[in-house]
Amino acid sequence: MSAIDLRLLPTTASVDGAGNLSIGGVSIADLASQFGTPLFVYDEQHLRERCREAVAAFGPDSVIYATKAFLCKAMAQLAHEEGVLLDVATGGEFHVALQAGVPGDRCVMHGNNKSLDELRMAITNNIRHIVVDSFDELSRLETLHAEGLAVPRVQLRITPGVHVNTHDYISTGQDDSKFGFNLNNGDAHRAIEQARNSAAVNLVGIHCHIGSNVLAIENFEDASKVMVDLFASSGLQELTLGGGLGVAYTERDNAPTMQQWSTVLKRAAASLPSTARIYVEPGRSIVATAGITVYNVGTVKHIEGVRTYIAVDGGMSDNMRPALYESEYEVFDPARTNADRTERARIVGKHCESGDILVFNAPVAPNVAVGDLLVTPVTGAYGYSMANNYNKVTRPAVVFVANGVARLVVRRENLDDLTRLDV
Ligand code: LLP
Repeated sequence: MSAIDLRLLPTTASVDGAGNLSIGGVSIADLASQFGTPLFVYDEQHLRERCREAVAAFGPDSVIYATKAFLCKAMAQLAHEEGVLLDVATGGEFHVALQAGVPGDRCVMHGNNKSLDELRMAITNNIRHIVVDSFDELSRLETLHAEGLAVPRVQLRITPGVHVNTHDYISTGQDDSKFGFNLNNGDAHRAIEQARNSAAVNLVGIHCHIGSNVLAIENFEDASKVMVDLFASSGLQELTLGGGLGVAYTERDNAPTMQQWSTVLKRAAASLPSTARIYVEPGRSIVATAGITVYNVGTVKHIEGVRTYIAVDGGMSDNMRPALYESEYEVFDPARTNADRTERARIVGKHCESGDILVFNAPVAPNVAVGDLLVTPVTGAYGYSMANNYNKVTRPAVVFVANGVARLVVRRENLDDLTRLDV
């Protein structure tokens, strides 16, 4: 197998004559020695370029970054600086956005089970709009109205009944879903009617999100057609067509570009009046390829005739995706980035279970040894955001690199953090 495909790396990735990888002008070896491993490294230029590409494709104030993909104060600030709105799916995500200095009216709130407190927080902080997910949530908004809170702008999340080619756990547009109001059984129409007649909400639009890591552009086309029909008959002003644009994790994957996505969505919406406001909510496609994870090799175990296990100092606590969705990744040694990866190994973590796998059957350069660094690219989305403390492993640090400077944006957890909540 050949060397790592550089298209899987962040924009500013460069490789010197000896094969050492740098990102944002900083060598991975230096980052590992300065900040330790495991380490999430984000290319700030790449993040900004993806935000700009999305804004250029969809227009100003039309792109809402789904913060669940990766959120910390620095990320919220970066997206906000680039003119991107923020989608927060919980009070926790909203809190981080507000702490970062992002105004409430630059955020929208999602979630299939928002609590009264989360809804109150959204309204009192002047959220741009709330995407209402259920009849129970409409009742909760009635309660808040009775308390005298302001009337929020609201979109209704519709489940269009469209099946998507992605992992079942991240497919959300089908009838059998916990999310939204079903179109096919009439709930969507009933919810629109109810919201329209309610003094507690200002119904401005409808919303759908059919699933995540969608690689087949036709899936977006199908869902958009259904939503555009409903939207046209509703007489509302705002239509959100969700996120979900997939990315290439391995050299075998082919993902549509932001521009192709926008072309398909715009074509579907072409019949709508120019006053219709279209929003999208990309998460993964903004941050995934901007981030890599750097690990240190701790053990190498050859089982003759079976396989080789290479264990690194992180694992399913910093990347749950292989264990959860059998997601595939590539791996390489950043000190020999151009080396052909002629051997095979399973890359595993340090957690106490066999499912703690980072790469199932990875091509690797020959003779990976204890002390080598390994990098998994395309870990910028749903890696750190789903990180956990299983086995009381401390969560990694996160650095942003740009123009030869590395900026620590989330510090590494320490052992004291592990008992911080104990009383
Ligand atoms: N909008 C809504 C309402 C969503 O629920 C999501 C993702 C997005 C936007 C952003 O989707 P994206 O552009 O990132 O595909 N943990 C899973 C992904 C779960 C996505 C949940 N919703 C994973 O690691 O693949």
